[in-house]
Amino acid sequence: MSSEKVDQLMQAMTIAEKIGQLIQTTADVFPNGDAVVTGPMKSANMSAESVYTIGTVLGISGAKKVKQIQYDYLQHNRLKIPLIFMADVIHGYQTIFPIPLALGASFNPETMKIASQVAAQESAAGGIHVTFAPMVDLVRDPRWGRVMESTGEDPYLNSVMATASVQGFQGDSLDDHHVAACVKHFAAYGAAEAGREYNTVDVSEWRFKEQYLPAYQAAVDAQAALVMTSFNTLFGVPASANQHLMRDILRQEMAFNGVLISDWSAVAELINHGVAGDHQAAADLALKAGVDIDMMGYAYAKYLEKAADLDTTTAQLIDESARRVLELKDKLGLFTDPYRGLDDTREATEIKTTANLQAAQAAAEDSIVLLKNDRAVLPLVPETRAALIGPVADSGDILGSWSWQGDPAATETIKTALSAAMPNLTFAAGSDYRTSSVRDLKEAVALARQQDVIIAALGLPADESGEATSLANIQLPAEQLVLLRELAKLNKPIISVIVAGRPLDLTEVADLSTAILFAWFPGSKGAAALSRILLGEVNPSGKLPMTFPRSVGQVPIYYNEYRTGRPSTNPFGRDDIKYQSKYMDEVNAPLYPFGFGLSYADISVKAIELAQTTVTPADTLAVTVHLENQSTISGKTVIECYTHQQVGETVRPVKSLVAFEKVEIAGESLADFTIEIPCEHLASVHQDLHQAVDSGEYQLMVGLDSDHLITVPFTIE
Ligand code: IFM
Repeated sequence: MSSEKVDQLMQAMTIAEKIGQLIQTTADVFPNGDAVVTGPMKSANMSAESVYTIGTVLGISGAKKVKQIQYDYLQHNRLKIPLIFMADVIHGYQTIFPIPLALGASFNPETMKIASQVAAQESAAGGIHVTFAPMVDLVRDPRWGRVMESTGEDPYLNSVMATASVQGFQGDSLDDHHVAACVKHFAAYGAAEAGREYNTVDVSEWRFKEQYLPAYQAAVDAQAALVMTSFNTLFGVPASANQHLMRDILRQEMAFNGVLISDWSAVAELINHGVAGDHQAAADLALKAGVDIDMMGYAYAKYLEKAADLDTTTAQLIDESARRVLELKDKLGLFTDPYRGLDDTREATEIKTTANLQAAQAAAEDSIVLLKNDRAVLPLVPETRAALIGPVADSGDILGSWSWQGDPAATETIKTALSAAMPNLTFAAGSDYRTSSVRDLKEAVALARQQDVIIAALGLPADESGEATSLANIQLPAEQLVLLRELAKLNKPIISVIVAGRPLDLTEVADLSTAILFAWFPGSKGAAALSRILLGEVNPSGKLPMTFPRSVGQVPIYYNEYRTGRPSTNPFGRDDIKYQSKYMDEVNAPLYPFGFGLSYADISVKAIELAQTTVTPADTLAVTVHLENQSTISGKTVIECYTHQQVGETVRPVKSLVAFEKVEIAGESLADFTIEIPCEHLASVHQDLHQAVDSGEYQLMVGLDSDHLITVPFTIE
């Protein structure tokens, strides 16, 4: 619904001013402005006058700076239309939460919501109006560095997390303490071929709608105010020029009526894609596809020169887009207060508060995954004589990438947190992330020899995750593997703490380690969270949101694969049957499956019961899960419910997550949990692309990971 103010402005604006609303640049075009560079920089090359017509800026924050720029802008802008300030607030502003993939591992939408709420509150106090988050791309290829920014490989988990994130960022009313969410990257960017950044995507529309689209739809249904186009091609056409994708699917089928923004220079890059001959043609294609804002490409700026010659259709499209940008400004309250309540005191008191840091720690504790714990070597007692070794141990890099407002140098490291809790801890780095010296290695081995237990803090640096960080090798760097091998020769228990933003090939690490904790990039309070988990003050409860392969050759590997005509009869081993879907030199099964994560408690599913074994598509399937905890300590786990449709019109996945719940069970107890599964979660996409819940025979599978499941049949009639 358009406000009177928007109508008035639309009437008063010249075509050049309307086009201005569609241009986004970094704020260094203004006095006192600067820029966080998140793409190839090109000069805006705009006249001083046209700079004061642009509608939005990105990559700048800070109450004082934002106020100054807004003030200066309003002095020059003829109609006094305020700027929108946008930025990548991905997993926190100054209080850095675990990366989104870790938040996915929490399997706890409340954790995601709180993380987004805190990020919104802090960044709004820092002058940001829109965050380029959440990224809800379905990801199945750990070679792609951006998997860190997604919540994983599952359409349902991603949808639940997308909803929680949008709700957290925007709140109920998008007031001054919240920011507008920009869902990205539309669409299917997670399927970039070979995991190579900016590469082609080619999935069928059927598969796109069945697996990739649900999370974007969930974010749109949660009222996300913006959507960002992806860099990739889909159905043969780059997203930013793709009328079918943007007009038919996004606007019509998905009913999105907010602002569509391009990714950084994605409109101009239509020339590189080879679908436009020049900026004018690129801008024309993008506008026709419904892209409202051209981020850092300046293709739309070309229209300024030709404004007078525009044909009526183009003018009408410009009107529609300009109106949408103004409506967003209205929604953000900028016409009432262009500063959105900014002041230095608010900024100082609302950022990095004790409560926010506690929330970040709780999120890290909720998301760290215990992958191995032989002989119950964990938890440790504080008095353990332990050697902490490895390049991650004393590094602030645990914040992870996309944390531009975080301060790695001021971040508590694992070494600092553990030293405070373990009086007999000694430390030697042993190697750097990707370099080592014989001297450092020897020193670390000598030190470890003196101790009873080794804590190996290994992983990847922050700048090896996020945008433009594709890797062809997903093992730990060679130097760190050498270090681990040398430590293993000491025959002492090794607890490997792995910090990384993507699934890694941990096959050798698993062979050499007694226990493995996968910490992701755990954020500002990640070290404290890890210390508490290592010492048993917190029982780990994270579950993998992406499958961990045994080797890179298995990639893409994911749990919800489609049935094939010749499935392997022995996915965990090798056999002599030739004509099956399998490798000759590797088993099919992953190292760690989706949804996997251990606990210090001994929790298992004893039985499951369905309230009804025959339901209709409109019904809810109620399953009661009997859990048992045979250990003396309480623990949290995730009850995971999967279904499989026996016979479908199209091929069906071997299993699909349809519900999950994080639950807690006391030590030495039995507990029943009833989980409701709306049958609409079982809908599939048909050949003609319509979506429906089919009648027929199904299986419900329930367990604590995607591999160990109790199965019961049911019917939908
Ligand atoms: O938001 C990001 C996007 O995810 C990748 N390219 C740059 C944008 C703005 O920083």
